[in-house]
Amino acid sequence: MADNPPEAERLGPVRGELLASLHRTQEELGYIPAEAVSRIAKDLKISETDVYSVITFYKAFSLKPRGKRCVTACVGTACHVRGVSRVVDELSRTLGVAPGETTKDGEFTLETVNCLGCCAIGPVVVVDGEYHGQVTPQTAPGLVKAKAAKP
Ligand code: FES
Repeated sequence: MADNPPEAERLGPVRGELLASLHRTQEELGYIPAEAVSRIAKDLKISETDVYSVITFYKAFSLKPRGKRCVTACVGTACHVRGVSRVVDELSRTLGVAPGETTKDGEFTLETVNCLGCCAIGPVVVVDGEYHGQVTPQTAPGLVKAKAAKP
């Protein structure tokens, strides 16, 4: 779990309610649209800036619709020195999107993170919740294609 955002202390008692509202919205809609940010800020009597600060701090929340499946490549130091940049390039080419984007059919979102906590098996890529270690530019496309073939 990430450290608390700087707003945590200032938001005080409404912080728990804010996180619960954000989780609910993320679960229902798959992302948190601007209208939801306004409604949540109004309901909790806090600024929209505070709501956006919390959303952008946590990877669990997204301001853009995500695909049905996430492809997450670790670009932390250990994975970086083992060549993850070429793996990310290959995943981008295979999916036709840049990191942070979702495929047009809404099937996949490609994301990067700074460490998944299993550096010894890097480069690490998580596809739809499944961890894959020692991924290479040659094996990366197969991981995505195998998932795409499943219903
Ligand atoms: S740097 Fe990639 S898992 Fe830690």
